[in-house]
Amino acid sequence: MNTAPLQGIKVIDFTEVQSGPSCTQLLAWLGAEVIKIERPGVGDATRNELQFDPDCPSYYFLQLNSNKKSLTLDAKTPDGKEILTKLIQSCDIFIENLHPGAIDKLGFGWDAVHKLNPKCIYGTIKGFPVASQYSSLKAYEPVAQVTAGAASTTGWYEGDYNIPTQSGAALGDSNTGMHLTIGVLAALAQREKTGEGCYVYQSMHNACLNLCRIKTRDQLTLDRIGYLTQFPQYPDGKFGDCVPRSGNTEGSGVLGWTYKCKNWANDPNDYVYVILQRGAKDFELACHALGFDDWLTNPNFNTADARDKHKNEVWARIQEFCITKTKFEVTELLSKAGVPVGPVLSTKEIMTDPHNYDGNTLVKIDQGGKIGEFVTVGVPFTMSNYQPVYGPCPDLGGNTAEVLKSYGYTDQQIAEFAKNGTTSPMPKETSAPDKKA
Ligand SMILES: CC(C)(COP(=O)(O)OP(=O)(O)OC[C@H]1O[C@@H](n2cnc3c(N)ncnc32)[C@H](O)[C@@H]1OP(=O)(O)O)[C@@H](O)C(=O)NCCC(=O)NCCS
Repeated sequence: MNTAPLQGIKVIDFTEVQSGPSCTQLLAWLGAEVIKIERPGVGDATRNELQFDPDCPSYYFLQLNSNKKSLTLDAKTPDGKEILTKLIQSCDIFIENLHPGAIDKLGFGWDAVHKLNPKCIYGTIKGFPVASQYSSLKAYEPVAQVTAGAASTTGWYEGDYNIPTQSGAALGDSNTGMHLTIGVLAALAQREKTGEGCYVYQSMHNACLNLCRIKTRDQLTLDRIGYLTQFPQYPDGKFGDCVPRSGNTEGSGVLGWTYKCKNWANDPNDYVYVILQRGAKDFELACHALGFDDWLTNPNFNTADARDKHKNEVWARIQEFCITKTKFEVTELLSKAGVPVGPVLSTKEIMTDPHNYDGNTLVKIDQGGKIGEFVTVGVPFTMSNYQPVYGPCPDLGGNTAEVLKSYGYTDQQIAEFAKNGTTSPMPKETSAPDKKA
């Protein structure tokens, strides 16, 4: 039995860069047939962005387009519009992430597609919600992070580096793709009942804001009492009227920090994150492991509220403990005692850890040719009865003839589409022959 959850589902993927492609790649890995529409001769912008070799698609493209088919199609030509219409009439899901207004201008906005195929679910990604004052803006990752509260609350809270800072995680891009996937899968379940497809609109802003929920919690608290006990600014520093940048404090009420370890001067990632939980029992275990038993009877430290008031002393003493050990030694010592702890891992350490090659966490895909094998991040969850098969990414237009044939186009028509610029770049005009010659 084929347990691929989306087997038999056809997706027309009119997306590029990262946000949309991350969604459609996940749909492909869950078993959907994904046909990626790419501009003839151009393709997804990431194909030629940050390349390691001018003849190969970049790792950026390779990370986001596995298991898809590529159909080159100029949707601005009459033939291109006719082909896209046919594709839409027989698909289950249509996804696009062009700049605001572009897909309507092409004639394939929600209303038009819904008329063509009422069963089709329509997923769209834009920078901002429709009602937003910024809804007409083009958007890339940082635009989402700076407008959704991520950048203003991330980074250092004093000194020269007290500037809004971006997360290395793609909160605006891939995170938006994952949010759209949730919406599209909900729409698929809904269609089982209604028989009709719906419009799923996902803004990068809202996807990013959804991950900043604890910052809205902090704003509400700040508005009420004027301070936030878990922040480095408490109790001695000043709070303004908005949630400040929090450095390396933990997002919840437990007391955490990133500590330097023995090799920090030579290794930029020899750091460890250590958390003191609030409960008395957990604190006791941590004190035994750290050798800080005197804290158990010291009123400055033996309750969570007291530790919040003396967090600078807590941080300084745990720092002394960590500096004589590597991040792995600290992790082993404290984790054995049940203390929440984790080493700061570099991308190199993550990608060379054999434990991560468990079939899903990190996967190796054989792309063939000059590229050979590359590593990517697999489906981030596992299912007890389904294992994705991770395949290569398509060449630009690599499936054009195959897809057009499956829609009944003849070899002759397919050749004509290539000649008239619908599926391939128009051949360059040759100069007129010299009449005298
Ligand atoms: C990412 C973004 C900023 C890029 O903007 P852009 O450089 O204008 O590129 P777009 O792909 O949107 O559109 C470029 C043009 O190509 C056209 N185009 C794209 N694919 C096409 C195709 N297959 N056939 C014909 N035309 C096509 C578009 O219609 C548009 O034409 P227009 O300028 O005449 O309206 C913009 O698409 C955007 O804001 N998207 C929404 C948010 C998003 O997903 N951002 C990316 C995060 S990773």
